[in-house]
Amino acid sequence: MQYNESEFLIETVVPEDELIISRTSLEGIITYANETFCTISGYREEELLGHSHNLVRHPDMPSSVFKELWHTLKEKKQWSGIVKNLRKDKGFYWVHAIISGVYKDGVLVEYKSLRTPISFEEKLKHQKLYDKIRQNNGEKIRTITYL
Ligand SMILES: Cc1cc2nc3c(=O)[nH]c(=O)nc-3n(C[C@H](O)[C@H](O)[C@H](O)COP(=O)(O)O)c2cc1C
Repeated sequence: MQYNESEFLIETVVPEDELIISRTSLEGIITYANETFCTISGYREEELLGHSHNLVRHPDMPSSVFKELWHTLKEKKQWSGIVKNLRKDKGFYWVHAIISGVYKDGVLVEYKSLRTPISFEEKLKHQKLYDKIRQNNGEKIRTITYL
């Protein structure tokens, strides 16, 4: 898909008192999205439910981050990390995400994610880090760089 580069520069800042919540099936299909998730991602609830969570994957995110996320979840451990997500309008938002299993009678049935805002310094640090990881892994990086 082709995007106008400038569309990627519009940030939605997650308010301090907001929590973005979603749940997925064991295959990563969204089964629940709270109102904040809809508002921040720019999607309506029905546009999220039943779709893969990679709907909000931003092209700046290195594949290795998600590989590690899934590896951690398959080991039945909790994963936490900083993620840049893509809005429906191609803008972006940064979050700190904590992803873990949902258990029913001791059986893993779903995954859940709780996301909170991060500071400007954390965003800058991770933008540079993820650019470097993508570059080292031979993945495409933006032509616009942050100094
Ligand atoms: C509960 C849960 C929440 C997730 N949240 C996000 C998210 O906010 N953004 C994202 O890009 N990937 C998220 N993922 C990972 C995606 O499922 C997916 O692995 C990722 O977007 C990379 O896409 P790909 O696996 O198709 O390469 C989440 C996964 C789970 C299980």
